[in-house]
Amino acid sequence: MEFKKLFIPGPTMVHPDVLAKMATPMIGHRSKDASDLQRGISEKMRRLMYTSGKIVLSTSSGTGLMEGAIRNATAKRAIVFSIGAFGDRWHELAKLNGIEADIHREEDGQPTMPETVDKYLKTGKYDVVTITHNETSVGIMNPIEGISEVIKKYPDVLWLVDCVSSLAGTKIEVDRLGIDICITSSQKALALPPGLAIASISKKAEERFEKVGSRGFYFDLKNLLKYVDKKDYQYSSTPSLPHMFALDFQLDRIEKEGFEARFIRHMEMAEFMIDWANKHFKVFCRPGFESMTVTCIENTRNINVGDLNKELGKRGMQISNGYGNLKDKTFRIAHMGELMLSDMEEVTSAIEEILKLKEVHA
Ligand SMILES: Cc1ncc(COP(=O)(O)O)c(C=O)c1O
Repeated sequence: MEFKKLFIPGPTMVHPDVLAKMATPMIGHRSKDASDLQRGISEKMRRLMYTSGKIVLSTSSGTGLMEGAIRNATAKRAIVFSIGAFGDRWHELAKLNGIEADIHREEDGQPTMPETVDKYLKTGKYDVVTITHNETSVGIMNPIEGISEVIKKYPDVLWLVDCVSSLAGTKIEVDRLGIDICITSSQKALALPPGLAIASISKKAEERFEKVGSRGFYFDLKNLLKYVDKKDYQYSSTPSLPHMFALDFQLDRIEKEGFEARFIRHMEMAEFMIDWANKHFKVFCRPGFESMTVTCIENTRNINVGDLNKELGKRGMQISNGYGNLKDKTFRIAHMGELMLSDMEEVTSAIEEILKLKEVHA
């Protein structure tokens, strides 16, 4: 197998020291050491998420906690605001779990605007809103500050936010924004191997779980919280201890870098990529809503992305094609996790050389 420098939006590259933590000898998952490990992770995650809420871990990818969240939080009806494939997923998860839910889908490239959210919530039909903070399929970051202002007007509504591809790459102040369930996955900006999901849970969400009769089994969030509270930070089944060792260590590394410094690093990479993309192609999304962790580029030159990736592969790098129906119309270059500005310079120089990009896009 040939390993490449990954510019795909997950899994992202893992620092060798973090990877090494995955090989830590096993401990009993009902031991005091396991409790200490999970407690420590939760305290560090609370700092990174700017919350005093509870933290649950899930030995699954992020989709598992999305499924648990929409099922456990919806007592009446959910409204899903989708701007791409991962927004659509919330609706699919609701339907397959027998949850009453509607979807508002924006055209590809457009964000969810606060006034749209207000229009739906005004009807009084909904007790759950889902938002994709960073829609990885189209490279858009939704305006959660403005959306937060709207949702705060409706105290009976729970706000579920998919921060799978943004958390740890950009500041998300969970408590200040009023997010009730904030979900992320290990393999994106946290820069860990895939297989672990993490969520913060507000008091309001916890109270709602009591009112929902059918919460399922593996993703029963009330049960996960019971093991956090009553069993002193344990997991209801056997957790992926290797991920927990690695996450605990990685969170120390992130604090050492400094949260603000980490967010600025991601912003600088994003600004570089947006400029580069608009110079040679065109950023796919509506200006002003560009993602800080992945740039989705409109294929204005009609290049063969597969061929480009083959050539990049010879140079030890890999980017991503477009997602779903945007497969050939766009391509994506991620800038999250361990990547640095110099990596973005390296990959864009290689692309310029391969495609002989001299002209500026008209
Ligand atoms: C925005 C977003 N939400 C949800 C998911 C699903 O996460 P996971 O693959 O960890 O289940 C992804 C994965 O790429 C994503 O980018």
